[in-house]
Amino acid sequence: MPPSRHKTRMGRSASTSGRRKPPKEVFPKKKEHVLQSSLYHSFTSQETEAIRERLLAWYDKCKRDLPWRTTASTEPDLDRKAYAVWVSEVMLQQTQVATVINYYNKWMKVWPTVEDLARASLEEVNEMWSGLGYYSRGRRLQEGAKKVGIHGDLQVVSELGGSMPRSADELQKLLPGVGRYTAGAIASISYEQVTGVVDGNVIRVLSRMRCIGADSSTPAVSDKLWDLANALVDPERPGDFNQGMMELGATVCTPKKPLCTECPLQGQCKAFLKVNAEKEHAVKTLIKKQAVLNAEDVGDIEECDLGPGSCALCVPSSDPWDSSLGVANFPRKSAKKPSRVEQTATCVWEKCGDRGELEYLIVQRPSSGLLAGMWEFPSILLHNDLTEKDQKHSLLKLLQDLSGHSVPLKKLQYKGEVVHIFSHIHQTYMVYFLSKSTTENFSVKIEETEHPQTRWVTKEQFLNSAIPTAMKKIMKLCESPNSSCTAVNRSKKRKGDIVVQLPSARIKSEMGKQQSIQSFFKLATKK
Ligand code: ADE
Repeated sequence: MPPSRHKTRMGRSASTSGRRKPPKEVFPKKKEHVLQSSLYHSFTSQETEAIRERLLAWYDKCKRDLPWRTTASTEPDLDRKAYAVWVSEVMLQQTQVATVINYYNKWMKVWPTVEDLARASLEEVNEMWSGLGYYSRGRRLQEGAKKVGIHGDLQVVSELGGSMPRSADELQKLLPGVGRYTAGAIASISYEQVTGVVDGNVIRVLSRMRCIGADSSTPAVSDKLWDLANALVDPERPGDFNQGMMELGATVCTPKKPLCTECPLQGQCKAFLKVNAEKEHAVKTLIKKQAVLNAEDVGDIEECDLGPGSCALCVPSSDPWDSSLGVANFPRKSAKKPSRVEQTATCVWEKCGDRGELEYLIVQRPSSGLLAGMWEFPSILLHNDLTEKDQKHSLLKLLQDLSGHSVPLKKLQYKGEVVHIFSHIHQTYMVYFLSKSTTENFSVKIEETEHPQTRWVTKEQFLNSAIPTAMKKIMKLCESPNSSCTAVNRSKKRKGDIVVQLPSARIKSEMGKQQSIQSFFKLATKK
């Protein structure tokens, strides 16, 4: 028997409202499915109808004009359409729409079909992806294209014979890097398959609409969100409905300062109704200045019949409601795994090329793992217990292995540090420089046959190579004339942002007076 909805009066908190505990037999043994039967966190069929109608009307009027949407609505060929949506969805994972547009347009110009992408090399894909981050996304797209498209000079027939899989299940099963979200997005937008999607934007919209305050990464919440998305999606226009939900999350129901007054789903949003009722209550209390309100002065507010502590979907009682946040109390942030802290010594080695242009040594990373197949300045991961001298020796050993020459320790100039925040790694690059004068007296030709993973490149070639953003910043640091003695760049850190922080300034700020570079290294390695 599903628990019935009930309403509580404002002014009584969940823990003091005298809420009756449901009888024991309501709870099955399996914890994650204990409380999913509560209708408080579901939509009625009336609400579902209203949401579909309002969201689609809003989407038709307010949607952003985006290149992949034009393709999705005008391209008659299903394979071309699904490929275009696939590329856009992969690029949009963890990346803002504004950043994606240029990358998407450039990509589609070079590889307009899945067959074109199937013929590309990983290196070309990495070059195209350079600056977008999370490089495995591009690599997987290309691996997927090879499975789908006919490729190679001999027109090798691929595993899928040139056709994109035609359902969300098949897309997820057959294409590398395509998970439940991407599969649902491609299938609903390209094939009008009636299937919901749940991405970060949808999590926010649904959590607010149904006051789901438990950690959205738990199976109980994740299952519930997918159930809600699948139940809500419009059967006539699933692609537009899903894009409307995401668009609403991106432009109106934003993480901070949501624009509730502009929201087409305000009337169906329980967080909005709850916050408004709270405000109304506060205003009435203030005006009347009376300690106890008459019952009829306060509007009803609907609460979950199971409530915190018992409901797997409600805000946990250990994590109380913050009135100053309003609807942004939902969704709750999930506990983030702490980033791994790493330090890497890297060397920008410059020489005079045959045509008199400056050239720089770059090395290719292994074909799997972080930044697979990308190019970087010779780099080594540092261990915490190394002294500065040991660090320099390790770097010199690498340079010697690459060039066949021993490089004098004193020629290695320390330039500063560059911090890059990857999704799961807090990386600090200790940047060294070898100027062209260092290497004037010996030939530094590195045979590419012996070291196929190394290249000397001009600055222009460097910028056009598959180079991670951190390396471009390292190059900038070395080009700055006073790089080893200028002030700290104190820009605010975001994921993927670079902060150039020079040792002298950091020591000054941390210790109140200037220290030697040697003592800085001791400090840095102790962190
Ligand atoms: N985020 C990811 N895909 C999207 C889409 N198709 N529309 C709006 N926002 C999105």
